Amino acid sequence: MSDWSRAVSGRPVDDAATGDLVKPAATITGNRGLQIEEKLIFEQDSPGHCGVDLVDPAPFRTRLGGLERARPIGLPGLSEPQVVRHFTRLSQKNYAIDSGLYPLGSCTMKHNPRLNEKLARLAGFAEIHPLQPVSTVPGALALIDTVAHWLTTLTGMAAIALSPGAGAHGELCGMMAIRAALEARGERRSRVLVPESAHGTNPATAAACGYIVDPVPGNAQGRVDLAALKSKLGTDVAALMLTNPNTCGLFETDIIEIAAAVHAVGAYFYCDGANFNAIVGRVRPADLGIDCIHLNLHKTFSTPHGGGGPGSGPVALASSLAAYAPLPWLVHGADGLELVEHKSGPAREAIGRLKGFHGQMGMFVRALAYMMSHGADGLRQVAEDAVLNANYLRVRLEEDLSLPYPGRCMHEVLFDDRFLKDSGITTLDFAKALIDEGYHPMTVYFPLVVHGALLVEPTETESKASIDQFAAVLRSLAGAARSGDAARFHAAPRLTPRRRLDETAAARKPVLRWRPEPAR
Ligand SMILES: Cc1ncc(COP(=O)(O)O)c(C=O)c1O
Repeated sequence: MSDWSRAVSGRPVDDAATGDLVKPAATITGNRGLQIEEKLIFEQDSPGHCGVDLVDPAPFRTRLGGLERARPIGLPGLSEPQVVRHFTRLSQKNYAIDSGLYPLGSCTMKHNPRLNEKLARLAGFAEIHPLQPVSTVPGALALIDTVAHWLTTLTGMAAIALSPGAGAHGELCGMMAIRAALEARGERRSRVLVPESAHGTNPATAAACGYIVDPVPGNAQGRVDLAALKSKLGTDVAALMLTNPNTCGLFETDIIEIAAAVHAVGAYFYCDGANFNAIVGRVRPADLGIDCIHLNLHKTFSTPHGGGGPGSGPVALASSLAAYAPLPWLVHGADGLELVEHKSGPAREAIGRLKGFHGQMGMFVRALAYMMSHGADGLRQVAEDAVLNANYLRVRLEEDLSLPYPGRCMHEVLFDDRFLKDSGITTLDFAKALIDEGYHPMTVYFPLVVHGALLVEPTETESKASIDQFAAVLRSLAGAARSGDAARFHAAPRLTPRRRLDETAAARKPVLRWRPEPAR
């Protein structure tokens, strides 16, 4: 085993603490059932092996002036079957929404309908080249325009910038548009207000745009403290960045008053709309007084994310910010759809480009397939089912786990660690035990506003049976924690190919590079 393999293999198994279940059954190979112990690709190196037969190149005169590589590049030698097996086995070690319920709060890990995938693979979309003349891709432009139409209709906003490549990128886009609008007014404001429960990307974005991040405390109901917010507002505030529904899984019920207070000091109201799946088709952000909102297509509109695909974070803008939208713009001209690519004419105040070309075309196709196959009523049902599922889970668990903010939630339900009090078991231990039961853990220790947070988002695509089973597992684990079975939790996960990592060593002494075993 190399240093690297040893580093990731976790802490040694403590038999006394873990009991019989933990002891891996000894096998000749080190494999467990059909779980194959996979070596690093470099450890599988058999020098001279190659998946392809390449002819030696004809002699040629080098033009590199002696800078050409003198030694081989050091790639491992493997046959094609070895490479295929290696990557197939690695893929089988992954957990995905296609494997089971993925309750990661704030991430909306819901099913990606296969229809979306089928349409995204149509050659007319999948095989176009970004540098193809615009005149040869009218269908792609029409699709982008249709996505824009759906998103402006659903948000009620004047314009949409489709190019941002993720939620955080959308935040950057929105805050740059706000900064440009303020500068056009001749104002240089210095502060951005960000609630303490905000997603970490919000303060990071405000800081990246050069603003001082001023945190706004929450109230006892898990929402923004309106009085505290008002006391912080002033003419040096550029914007409020508010997540709604917020990261406690709650709707900000004072949102109309919040918008009015922000506008009264001439600031902009940025909304983090990553959780739009909880309100899509039910609420239009423009009607709440929001000036700018990013949507995570990869969450609300079910395009694959995490390891499965790139994100897409379009930003919807009110008319007061539309002129600052990044290029390119798609406009309806006399001869059909036209592309505006330069900062001139109506686009002279655009903030420039944020990304090459239009953004994630494949994600636009998937998102549009999702929107059109659901229709307006279906999208409304998405929101209703997301909220219903989270509340069903809340009610099934409220007696066994502890709710910091009792009462109805939106698309996700937040628990704290009071139910583990005096058990010697932490939120992390509890989450790790879930892995042994075949579930990806929920989001833990976020949001920071409650102690030992467990944020669970079942999403709208889980059935009642699947949520019932998940709730039964959580209840049973909570019962085991209450009955004092701490050893089981401290040892978890017990049944995975790798045990719990030493997270302190991983952070303090990261092994980032593989080095061959010294020759014996
Ligand atoms: C509330 C919230 N804001 C922002 C983001 C950032 O989005 P992304 O990861 O696409 O950058 C997320 C991600 O899930 C989120 O949940």
